[in-house]
Amino acid sequence: MSVSASLDQREFAFTNADFERIRGMLHQNVGISLSPVKTELVYSRVTRRLRATGHASFSSYLEALSPAAPEWEQFVNALTTNLTAFYREPHHFERLAKLLPNLPRPATLWCTASSTGEEPYSLAMTAVETFDSWTPPVRIIATDIDTNVIATARAGVYALEPVQALGRQRLERFFLRGKGRHEGKVRIRPELQRLIDFRPLNLLANDWPVRGPLAAIFCRNVMIYFDRDTQHRLLSRFVPLLDPAGRLFLGHSETIKAGSLPLVNEGQTVYALVAPDARAR
Ligand SMILES: C[S@@+](CC[C@H](N)C(=O)[O-])C[C@H]1O[C@@H](n2cnc3c(N)ncnc32)[C@H](O)[C@@H]1O
Repeated sequence: MSVSASLDQREFAFTNADFERIRGMLHQNVGISLSPVKTELVYSRVTRRLRATGHASFSSYLEALSPAAPEWEQFVNALTTNLTAFYREPHHFERLAKLLPNLPRPATLWCTASSTGEEPYSLAMTAVETFDSWTPPVRIIATDIDTNVIATARAGVYALEPVQALGRQRLERFFLRGKGRHEGKVRIRPELQRLIDFRPLNLLANDWPVRGPLAAIFCRNVMIYFDRDTQHRLLSRFVPLLDPAGRLFLGHSETIKAGSLPLVNEGQTVYALVAPDARAR
């Protein structure tokens, strides 16, 4: 089948102008820079929203869409990429476990793109293990722009199979096994959930309801979707929120240009603040 034939067979006409309009709105309001290779993905995800809202064409759907429209939230939710895992990039959790006893107490950790919850729950498990207590001197703020993933994270129910990879000890300590019709699923123990405050938050918003000083900011695998300017603006807003002893954790492919911000690379995309006296020099 030729490309034009497959395009003709689409349920809804989707023009380059429609794609550019979606791309512009997403970039301006969410920070995500969509490359043209994502055209098909955008078509299939937004088509679902057309069906759900009863619009007969992209142009009528997009005409009615703005950040103030009730549909906006679902539009954004449809276009985020939420891939995550428990203990993703495990060296970061090992590093945090070593840092936590020396950080100010209570230590506030901000997980800025928490997706379906595996990352903040991994932070909570790290805190409980480090202090060998269900009430460690740690509080975790977990945020994401996508309200669907925040709801999944709050529910704390996961498939058993990937959780088994964490080992029997963690499975038994931190999860409740589903029985009967919940067989094959696990639920996070409420003691662990209590350590985390889940909230929707757009990293591009002018005001973040998050107060410093923060012992750690986890901003992993989200800046890859942003352009350089947006990344730099975001990082410069993290700096004043960090405790002098705090750390910024980025995803493995997200690095900070040397000298552009008062942050020093400690390796493996972990950053500390440059000491104030060193900054003055
Ligand atoms: C690929 S996931 C990464 C999840 C997790 N941090 C990890 O490393 O496993 C990226 C997350 O960033 C969120 N996101 C994208 N743009 C955002 C924004 N402007 N503000 C907050 N979260 C955003 C998405 O909804 C998605 O859940």
